Amino acid sequence: MTTATSAFDVARIREDFPVLQQMVNGKPLVYLDNAATSQKPQSVIDTLVHYYTSDNSNVHRGVHTLSQRATEDYDAARSTARQFLNAASDQEIIFVKGTTDGINLVAHSYGRQHLGPGDEIIISTMEHHSNIIPWQVLCQEKGAHLRVIPINDAGELLIDEYERLLTPRTKLVSITHVSNVLGTINPIEQIVEMAHSRGVPVLVDGAQAAPHMAVDVQKLGCDFYVFSGHKVCGPTGIGVLYGKSDLLEAMPPYQLGSEMIKSVTFERTIYNDLPYKFEPGTPHIAGAIGLGAAISYISDIGMDRIFAYESELLRYGTERLSAIGGLTLIGTAAKKGSVLSFVMDGVHPHDIGTILDAEGIAIRTGHHCAQPLMDRFGVPATARASLAFYNTKEEIDVLVKGIDRVIEVFS
Ligand code: ALA
Repeated sequence: MTTATSAFDVARIREDFPVLQQMVNGKPLVYLDNAATSQKPQSVIDTLVHYYTSDNSNVHRGVHTLSQRATEDYDAARSTARQFLNAASDQEIIFVKGTTDGINLVAHSYGRQHLGPGDEIIISTMEHHSNIIPWQVLCQEKGAHLRVIPINDAGELLIDEYERLLTPRTKLVSITHVSNVLGTINPIEQIVEMAHSRGVPVLVDGAQAAPHMAVDVQKLGCDFYVFSGHKVCGPTGIGVLYGKSDLLEAMPPYQLGSEMIKSVTFERTIYNDLPYKFEPGTPHIAGAIGLGAAISYISDIGMDRIFAYESELLRYGTERLSAIGGLTLIGTAAKKGSVLSFVMDGVHPHDIGTILDAEGIAIRTGHHCAQPLMDRFGVPATARASLAFYNTKEEIDVLVKGIDRVIEVFS
């Protein structure tokens, strides 16, 4: 065990999460659906309550006291997000609704501006629907083509194939950092370097990476990075799009209205500076402030410690699940985040989920918004246990017992 792992006081951390202290169907809750959404620590809940109790106001930048407080906290949350990603400036941090919204923003703004007939966008087989459909529809609109990097049976990208797909027609690469189904951690630095050597920008879907590991957008070198607040212990309906400032400056706004303007006449509008150009309307102020609290909470624990602890949980879970006869893990990449997707002989994943729920265990079953990936593995669905830093080895033991129960029911 690493020092980071042994120093990790998970019992103490669990006390911060009120939702974990409950019985479900007469059993202590074992929450293993963290890739869908994470639970919220008391500090995030308190921050939201405090905002609505004491500071609720619009962020009009410098009018009455409440508005000033709300504005200060909203701006502070942006700085917290910038530090979290190690972006160069707060201007590069755009608050969006979540990962899906961030990708749609880039597709509508950057994509529409740069894509023409015959051009190509590269994605991969393991993408979430949110990183497929915006590009698919954009390509259809522009007469362009979507190219897809294949993967091997372990769920790893075939980098040679990626190299072949990069051509003078490539206008953008949009790729997930960590697969929500397989857990595969993709070699983003290498992917970016290969794209940049041909002048192609890269968007990274960080929805499943930001909650689990330190992310440094300057080190990764990517042009855009997107993640969701609710997966990093923050509220729903808020997320972050990071973009390099020169790219964002040159992009047209995605949506139009208040806040994103400097001046308006009936003849013309002058847009606001970054990041406000991309934040029309009243933003999700409470959400952003809550996200700031969530990022502070996980950053205080330490992203490297979280990664080390979850890696040990993943190792343990992989060992235990691999030992179960008739169970097949889907996603066995050498570099993996804390996701355990599996199928069982003769049992539909939905039945696995239902039986586990009766035992108080929450997992996700289905196609996980990644139907092309299901097709690649020849399965209609999987059962998925996705781990967070507040999970324990004991909970994995409960999962294994639950799976034994599934086997019993279907034998
Ligand atoms: N994209 C989320 C998941 O994988 C909702 O469950």
